[in-house]
Amino acid sequence: MTRESWQTRIGFILAAVGSAVGLGNLWRFPWMTSENGGAAFLLVYLGVVLLVGVPGLLAEFVIGRRSRRNPVGALSDLSNSKYWSAFGHVFVVTGVVLLSFYSVVGGWILRYFAESFTGAYFANPGAHFDAVSYGLDAVGFHLLFLGVTALVVLRGVRRGIEKATKLMMPAIVALLVALAAWGLTLDGAAEGVAFFLSPDVGFLRANFFDILPQAAGQALFTLSLGAGTMLTYASYLGEDRSLVADGTAIAVLNTLVGVLAGVVVFPILFALGSGAGAGGPGALFVSLAGAFAALPYGEVVGVVFFGVVLLAALSSSISMLEIPVSFLVDEYGVSRRRAVAGLLGVFAVTGSVCALDAGVFGVVAGPLVDLLLTGGLVGFLLFAGWVLGTAAVEELRRGAGSFAQSVATPWLYAVGVVIPVFLIFTFVSGLAGALG
Ligand code: PHE
Ligand code: NA
Repeated sequence: MTRESWQTRIGFILAAVGSAVGLGNLWRFPWMTSENGGAAFLLVYLGVVLLVGVPGLLAEFVIGRRSRRNPVGALSDLSNSKYWSAFGHVFVVTGVVLLSFYSVVGGWILRYFAESFTGAYFANPGAHFDAVSYGLDAVGFHLLFLGVTALVVLRGVRRGIEKATKLMMPAIVALLVALAAWGLTLDGAAEGVAFFLSPDVGFLRANFFDILPQAAGQALFTLSLGAGTMLTYASYLGEDRSLVADGTAIAVLNTLVGVLAGVVVFPILFALGSGAGAGGPGALFVSLAGAFAALPYGEVVGVVFFGVVLLAALSSSISMLEIPVSFLVDEYGVSRRRAVAGLLGVFAVTGSVCALDAGVFGVVAGPLVDLLLTGGLVGFLLFAGWVLGTAAVEELRRGAGSFAQSVATPWLYAVGVVIPVFLIFTFVSGLAGALG
């Protein structure tokens, strides 16, 4: 059986952007920003995306395209080392951990999308979220969200992932633009935009080392880095195209959607007079849902907003499921159907645990994900820098223009040394900050 590949270049880019744009942009980004001083956080985050995110994305692309395999197969094939092969299995774990909590949040979104029609959360958003966020209800919606994700992945790379994301991404951007246009007409919108876009330099100076680890964690999560997703997607690249051009396009598009999401969320929150609103995972479901209940045409806006978030979440969850699916298909010759069915069983259980217990959810969605993504990305970077070395440079240059030709060698030093050191330092300092 020949391995599948993307049909078109734009299909690959949209699938990767689909993976990147998700709850990270629309759910995690606004609350992290509001807890970390607004624009000051945005600035640090943009720096990390540019200096760590893009080179990291290229490392995953290089490994994926060169090996044409899933993360485990890629690391073992290209290195012939049993240690790297063992390390590769971490990415299967990462995929499981990610989708387990992501599908619970996806379930919340699904529920709120439906309830925007009925108005179920309008009377008391805080109490409503408390009542439905963990427990059997959450299990049910998690299973529903997981089922839809599985249906797309079941259809394969071209007919499933590529086709679905090609429809979803333009819809997401168009609807976000419409929402932003509406939000900007509200009283108080200007304050919201100012909070989001004009940095408080004093705050930034005083809190830089607290902000940095959060911004780094957010940058990895939002670009789907360190999980092996981007590696897997690049492994379906059939032809020689510029990885540098595609990687840059993907990072830029993801960032634009993140900023657009902030321009949607903050004016709505400030229009209510609630300031940046309650932070934390509930922000979207409490502060924002409250705004939909209170503002003119809020119900309609609620339907559109949760609809957009749902599409964004799905285009990311399919990329999470694709990691272990590609692993089972490549390494064990299992059919896609069986792989999806078996994994559905696994996620039904692991996700339900997160849906039943807020404590487990908090650990899985927070520190565990940060640790796995940081460790995973450091692994990919060192692999590209030290195991592939000049082969990585050659791969990056394949099919690329003159800009990529000239940055390839400096890039190798960055991924082999500078960025891993930076990531480890940042992670440890974040840990120290959290503990003391
Ligand atoms: N980037 C996705 C988001 O922002 C999350 C994700 C992380 C997807 C890692 C795949 C792998 O929602
Ligand atoms: Na994202």
